[in-house]
Amino acid sequence: MRLISTSQIQSDMVLARPIYNEGRLILAEGTNNLGRYIKSLNRLGISEIYIEDTISEGIDVPDVLTVKTRNICKETIRNTFKDFTNRGKIQVEGIEKSIDLVIEEIMQNKDVLISLNDIGAADEYTYTHSVSTTVYALLLAQRLGYKIEMMKRLAIGTILHDIGKIYIDHDIMFKEGKLTDKEYEYVKKHTLLGYNALKSCDSLSELSRIISLTHHEHIDGTGYPRGLKGDELHQFSKIVAIADVYDALTSTRCYRPKWSNKQAMDMLMQYCGTKFDTDLVCRFLQLIAVYPNGTQVKLTDGRVGIVKEQNPGMPLRPVVRIFAEADGSKKEMYDVNLMIELNIVIAEDEFDYIIDDKSKQVG
Ligand SMILES: [Fe+2]
Repeated sequence: MRLISTSQIQSDMVLARPIYNEGRLILAEGTNNLGRYIKSLNRLGISEIYIEDTISEGIDVPDVLTVKTRNICKETIRNTFKDFTNRGKIQVEGIEKSIDLVIEEIMQNKDVLISLNDIGAADEYTYTHSVSTTVYALLLAQRLGYKIEMMKRLAIGTILHDIGKIYIDHDIMFKEGKLTDKEYEYVKKHTLLGYNALKSCDSLSELSRIISLTHHEHIDGTGYPRGLKGDELHQFSKIVAIADVYDALTSTRCYRPKWSNKQAMDMLMQYCGTKFDTDLVCRFLQLIAVYPNGTQVKLTDGRVGIVKEQNPGMPLRPVVRIFAEADGSKKEMYDVNLMIELNIVIAEDEFDYIIDDKSKQVG
């Protein structure tokens, strides 16, 4: 299995993971002749899919969360936002059930390096992002030794952290270009609006509620809405600030393509001790797969391949299945273990390498 951008779809590829939209299955795992669906996928704003083909045969892409649980969560959060818009009520029971499922799966997949690549329509971003941010926050909390009860409080607050966006004008929220200063100031209000909304929900703990208010604060006081600093911020807020930014950067947005994991990790490192808590960033980065299995990569010697498996504790040096030589020629596929060939590193990832007809015959 491997991840490709929709523009790389070829008619003989087979879908390796199902695609859902608004909770409905639109393409099942195993769907072939994918070329037929390019237009529909583009229309929905789906920019990447997992496919199965000869060169990715046998490559497994482990995920901390099953597609089923992820969709249950997205459905819950979608209904929660809808209910709140229509009736001003938040059904905490449904959210709690979804959170329990997520925590159960996370506890079972302890050693999986995170590579959340949720395939979803562009309109679904708020829900997809809420769920992914929650998974990142929970994995970090688990690493910090949190007890289940605290993990639940963190997760409920995280999954609802952007509920204030329901008050923000859709056209500004999903604007393709850069926001004007005035628009940005307006969008910032989603924090306070979200917190005020959650205040009406008695069954939520204050620790959960406060996340909506503080997830854009920075430890040096440069964040918003209140410019809180260091110890003025609860650890929940510092965790969600990291999880929120990392997921936003590694997701395709209406105004920019997604960043690679490596770029997003570099950005977190760059702001250690200013925007983000250094210790939390270091622990967080240990959980992330820099080059997840199924990622197309180019090595420094020009060879091109797909990440086949991870070397534990060495996130920059996975095993790569080579399918093209530096001069573009294709021989039989073979593996390069970057833990053994130490003079080579990964130069680029997630670039669009068009596999021509000849390469289909390889392997
Ligand atoms: Fe936010």
